[in-house]
Amino acid sequence: MRNDTAPTPQAIYRKDYVAPGYWVDTVEMGFDLDLDHTHVATRLTMRRNHDSAEKDLVLFGASLKLLQLRMNGVNLKKSAYSIDGEIMRIPNAPDQVVLEIETRIQPVKNTSLSGLYASNGNFITQCEAEGFRKITWFPDRPDVMAKYTVMLRADKKKFPVLLANGNLIEQGDLGDGRHFAKWEDPFKKPSYLFALVAGKLVCQEEKYQLQSGRKVLLQVWVEDGNLDKTQHAMDSLKNSIRWDEERFGLELDLDRFMIVATSDFNMGAMENKGLNIFNTKYVLANPRIATDVDYAGIESVVGHEYFHNWTGNRVTCRDWFQLSLKEGLTVFRDQEFSADLVGTATGRAVKRIEDVRILRQVQFSEDAGPMAHPVRPDSFVEINNFYTVTIYEKGAEVVRMYYTLLGHDGFRKGMDLYFARHDGQAVECDDFRAAMADSSGRDLTQFERWYSQAGTPHVKVQTAYDAAAQIYEITLTQSCAATPGQAEKRPFHIPVAMGLLDSAGHDMPLHCDGYENQSGANSLVLELTDTTQTFRFSQIGSLPVPSLLRNFSAPVILDIEYSDDDLSHLLAHDSDPFNRWEAGQRLASRRLVRLTKAVQQGEKLELDQLFIEAWRRILNDESLDPSFRELMLTLPSEAMIAEEFSVVDPQAIHTARQFVRATLTQHLRADLLRIYETYLTPGKYSPDAASMAKRSLKNLALSYLLEWVDDSTLALALTQFDEAENMTDRLAALTALTNFNGSGKQVKQAAKALKKFYKEFKHEALVIDKWFMLQATAHTTDVKTICELMEHPAFTLTNPNRARSLIFGFCNANPSRFHAADGSGYTLWAELVIALNKINPQVAARLARSLDRWKKYPGHLQAKMKAALGKVAAAKNLSKDVAEVISKALA
Ligand code: ARG
Ligand code: ZN
Repeated sequence: MRNDTAPTPQAIYRKDYVAPGYWVDTVEMGFDLDLDHTHVATRLTMRRNHDSAEKDLVLFGASLKLLQLRMNGVNLKKSAYSIDGEIMRIPNAPDQVVLEIETRIQPVKNTSLSGLYASNGNFITQCEAEGFRKITWFPDRPDVMAKYTVMLRADKKKFPVLLANGNLIEQGDLGDGRHFAKWEDPFKKPSYLFALVAGKLVCQEEKYQLQSGRKVLLQVWVEDGNLDKTQHAMDSLKNSIRWDEERFGLELDLDRFMIVATSDFNMGAMENKGLNIFNTKYVLANPRIATDVDYAGIESVVGHEYFHNWTGNRVTCRDWFQLSLKEGLTVFRDQEFSADLVGTATGRAVKRIEDVRILRQVQFSEDAGPMAHPVRPDSFVEINNFYTVTIYEKGAEVVRMYYTLLGHDGFRKGMDLYFARHDGQAVECDDFRAAMADSSGRDLTQFERWYSQAGTPHVKVQTAYDAAAQIYEITLTQSCAATPGQAEKRPFHIPVAMGLLDSAGHDMPLHCDGYENQSGANSLVLELTDTTQTFRFSQIGSLPVPSLLRNFSAPVILDIEYSDDDLSHLLAHDSDPFNRWEAGQRLASRRLVRLTKAVQQGEKLELDQLFIEAWRRILNDESLDPSFRELMLTLPSEAMIAEEFSVVDPQAIHTARQFVRATLTQHLRADLLRIYETYLTPGKYSPDAASMAKRSLKNLALSYLLEWVDDSTLALALTQFDEAENMTDRLAALTALTNFNGSGKQVKQAAKALKKFYKEFKHEALVIDKWFMLQATAHTTDVKTICELMEHPAFTLTNPNRARSLIFGFCNANPSRFHAADGSGYTLWAELVIALNKINPQVAARLARSLDRWKKYPGHLQAKMKAALGKVAAAKNLSKDVAEVISKALA
């Protein structure tokens, strides 16, 4: 087909769910592992599900060579079954079935990194969501849970380590240079949690004692040469185990728990039962190669995958429309884990702000674009396209709202009931909501709309004060824009945590109609359930400044008209640290919008004294934790500023933001220098919260200082780059050096640092990813530079981390260059989506989403984006993954 709309691929619908026609009780698998041709023999004991409308025995398979198919001991003739695409149907099968299947697969040819594939000569699997069908024919759907026994056979020299889920029950030599290992998983599981790993790997291991006294074996497996980078992952695993015992009373149910790191991985990590497989990015760390951000990422992803053992594995999803049941809940759990580990109130707030920043920047944008979907989608073409920020991060916000509404203990009761009811089952999001409602006695019927309606609600705020009567009223009005397939929205159940500040900045005691049982409290959680509601506060002796949506109590956009004075007041005094930060962001955002318009109009750019002084006060406020100051002083990103406009001008936004950074530095240079000196942390690196906080504020100061550079500040950066012994400081210095506006000679010195960095870390793949990323996102980097970097010997499209660092870095995180007026960014994008589509559809489809918001750009750019989208749509052999994204963008 040669037009500019991709053929709309076949969607599947939640409403069409039918229970499986057959259950599987046991799965026995034998693998003869060979990189070119792996032979898989599978024996399934199955029984009819008499409650299902599905009468055929249905199996799924993809990219398989079927060698043998026997039912109850008899070879099945071709006429006894039918295959249509990925679906095999066996009609008229008896109620009890033993199915024997032999397949052959080609791991080295599998560049999709789904199913069984090769990574640096090792075998790795990734089965979620539908990768198991690339290993054998199987009822590959999450509601079919079975017990697995797995026999692995392979060459002993090439594959000395053989791992699968559960417990190792037998191993030995086969005599012919090969050996075997037999694994048994004692728990029933869906096929997406199957895993095997084989190859040359080494591990750090430890016996760990659970609170119950039981001892378990913990292992972190990596490629040779990386054992000096596993300690942090091991520590994070132990912290995770302890946290789930303490906070939720959930114990590790296996005797052995393994983490394996691989450098070829589509996503972050995978929670396979007892055998978690990770992207190296979320395992490997030591001070030389990993930054503070990396350390934090490892902690939260190790936690995330471990917590899935209960929320995902013990209780799993009935179907993939319920994905957020496990992902939203598990993200909430990993967020709480990281917050609890820091422990302090500021630490919690810092974590909350970081999470909300991502939600707003990425998920709100998804909600406003062509791929908008509810937390529990109604349909999809390719499930891999739905591992989204909506399912994960908004899903976590939905879980957090139960927590906010029910309180700490109420939420725990709900969790306990959820496990009491559903352990060992495959269930729906509604079952989780029912557990929360039934355990608390609360009516959460309306809350269901958070699962069924897409889009980010707006909450508009109006206030009125009657001084004589001492009555203050807040009127909240909610609305939500249409999203694809959902024209009308009904009101959501929105928890609005709030307080009122008096003129001294103190919280006023609250007496709110309808909330009498909490009379006198400093803060309340108002519940907005109608379109418009007025909340009436009495005994309010002076006009307050309202602090609303404290701690970001709901994933909404708050439309409220604050004066600069109100914002300064909140910034200085709000007892809720999130809203203090928020007030600063509002002050900044207002100016950035104004300045962007001034750039477009060619007007003179000016920054007011009130703002500069506010920033100076924060910078120098030693009562504030340095990490909190760092967040406060970071301007809203270019992507966030873009959301304030109906038509986006990326270059003007960039210019305006750079102007503010440079002007702040011009005025605050002495303060920044002093902060830089104060927070220098010489000595041994430690990834604890207090040291991280110091480094982050110091490095923020450095990045500002280079915005108004002279030889002395340049020297600071060069010295830090040369002399720091940890990657956090080195990368911060190099980032500042890669982005500053200096003279020719200064720029040369910076370029030298970049070269040196490459040479020094040539053999550390994760650091080379940073090196590419740094250049991809530098505002001096244009399409031509990207093309040159793609020719670099260290670049390859087949490794997702590498592709993401350079290509995604440029297309998603360098807006002013990617959206070059000549459209060259889009042309490159189209070529790369098409190239990646052949190699790895999942990664290609992610990149395809870079043009999601094309309708938000000026006409001349829109035309070029549409042409690029059309070019991809017209490409041959488009995967379902890419076709879905492109057809939705063009719809
Ligand atoms: N369940 C994994 C996690 O959240 C994500 C794996 C998704 N992989 C995929 N290919 N869709 O940790
Ligand atoms: Zn997950």
